[in-house]
Amino acid sequence: MCGIVAYIGSSNALPVLLDGLRRLEYRGYDSAGVALLQSGRIDVRKAVGRIANLAEEIEKNPVSGQIGISHTRWATHGAVTRENAHPHSDRSGRLHLVHNGVIENYQTLREQLIERGHEFHSQTDTEVLAHLVGEAFEQSATQDKGSLVEAVRSALRQVIGTYGISVVHADVPGVIVGARRGSPLVLGIGKDEHFLASDVSAIVAHTRDVVYLNDYEIVALQAEGFEISTVSGGGAGFQISRVEFDASSVDKGKYPHYMLKEIHEQPNTVRDAMRGRLSLEEATAKLGGLNMTNSELRAVDRIVLAGCGTAFHSAMTGEYIIESLSHIPVECEFASEFRYRNIPLQRDTLAFVISQSGETADTLAALRESQRKGHRTLGICNNVASTIARESDGGVYMHAGPEIGVAATKSFTSQLTIFTLLGLLLGRIRHLSHSEGRDMIAQMEKLPDLVARTIELESQVAAIAKKYAQAKNFLFMGRQAHYPIALEGALKLKEISYISASGYPSAELKHGVIALITEDTPSLFIAPRDAVFEKNISNIEEVKARKGPVIAIGTEGDTALKKICDDVILIPDAPHYLSPILSVIPLQLLAYYIAVELGCDVDKPRNLAKSVTVE
Ligand code: G6P
Repeated sequence: MCGIVAYIGSSNALPVLLDGLRRLEYRGYDSAGVALLQSGRIDVRKAVGRIANLAEEIEKNPVSGQIGISHTRWATHGAVTRENAHPHSDRSGRLHLVHNGVIENYQTLREQLIERGHEFHSQTDTEVLAHLVGEAFEQSATQDKGSLVEAVRSALRQVIGTYGISVVHADVPGVIVGARRGSPLVLGIGKDEHFLASDVSAIVAHTRDVVYLNDYEIVALQAEGFEISTVSGGGAGFQISRVEFDASSVDKGKYPHYMLKEIHEQPNTVRDAMRGRLSLEEATAKLGGLNMTNSELRAVDRIVLAGCGTAFHSAMTGEYIIESLSHIPVECEFASEFRYRNIPLQRDTLAFVISQSGETADTLAALRESQRKGHRTLGICNNVASTIARESDGGVYMHAGPEIGVAATKSFTSQLTIFTLLGLLLGRIRHLSHSEGRDMIAQMEKLPDLVARTIELESQVAAIAKKYAQAKNFLFMGRQAHYPIALEGALKLKEISYISASGYPSAELKHGVIALITEDTPSLFIAPRDAVFEKNISNIEEVKARKGPVIAIGTEGDTALKKICDDVILIPDAPHYLSPILSVIPLQLLAYYIAVELGCDVDKPRNLAKSVTVE
């Protein structure tokens, strides 16, 4: 949700900023801008739309400098216009600021600033922050690095809300000041150059040594060094981390889109989610990051899973997987509801928040609310050192590598893999025997190959996508753990192709949804050979009786589906706790190929952002 990149050093800042912004475009792409400092003046360029538009604008009207800040916007306050694009400046026009987050009390601050003679040129909350910092700087006795940091500190003390910011001032030419609260900011350390970014992917091509800033920290960057302090005025310690992935893992490689690349990565990402976590000897899963002993795990009598979007669908699937393997009651909550619903939680409830980015505002708030109530709250995250990963009491990393496509794919299957590991671990502490545990491990070890075989269905799914791409409405149906997979299939299609799609438990069809069935409304049934296969067949018959086209996902070797469905995709057979990991793959591919067929921007669907760091 908005991306920030800043550079200070001896190279030309512009290519660093533009390349970084391109890598952060998944965080928002409503407008973009840069501010570059050279010879005591700052030049600003902005454009509505993608980074490509900004690059075009700069080609027409060049800028350069060795110090610069930049931003790609996902609009919250104010329409998508050039005026509302960042950077924003103060009344002197010499200070420029980019911001990620929401200043909640901006109206009050704006009115006070107007009374003090400030004029505003945008509808954003960010401009208020620029004026506040600028005003504090005007009032400082000196015009140096210390006073710019102090001005930022004084402004931040007045704001309520979230921020990740970068500030430059033409009067303090050797410094960039950054700060964070609630919106991520990472400092990159190079040789005589430093970087600031919302996400390491923006700077990993230049350095792998980084410092993840904490909330309420302010950093002053210079080419040759940096200083970190706090908003309250104290000093702050820091730890330099080494980024494990390299720049190539944030490139598309041979694929036309990140989404397709990430779908294809799934044999490896499910393997990485299990790597080192299965013990054949003890016939169980080892999840040391939970920071819980077996007796603490034994005492858990209820589990709550919270997440947003795709992570919520994974939680719903996790409910089936964990309950069936461990017999512990599991409940799912939208993270956004969890924070306000005040659900009664018993003492031995274990809460998990699930988030690929580890930065989703609602999920982070759910974590904090659960912890406030005294519950041990664990995180299932992909982004190492993300806020959720750092604030949770323990958890499990997905190890899926950077996910750039806005529509989540590989993180979903990694999450399901982790739920299976959790189910195995909790089940083995309770009722699963040693030999049952070993059987499960043997099945799980086959998973990467089964995923690879499922991806081989790509050309068949692409042909089916072409056939149905013009449909205006799509229904997805499944039973048990495949019901949330139906929801996820519908979400993928909505997100990237803008076709209206909804998911239901198959049996709910006759309670209303059946009214939607027409010759032009395809229904996709997830109907593997399982305990409810015959029930799904009956539901498919109900659709066919009303001339609705049916696509079915079945199990290899099945012949019954072919007799009644228009199109059938057969996936490898797998136990019930792994089958959803396979059945979702054709749905990811279907959404992808329909979106491509319709000419949609697969990796950057309209109005969406990958990491939603506002409420
Ligand atoms: C946004 C994205 C979704 C994602 C959700 C949760 O809405 O568009 O694709 O599933 O956030 O993201 P998280 O990073 O918390 O898993």
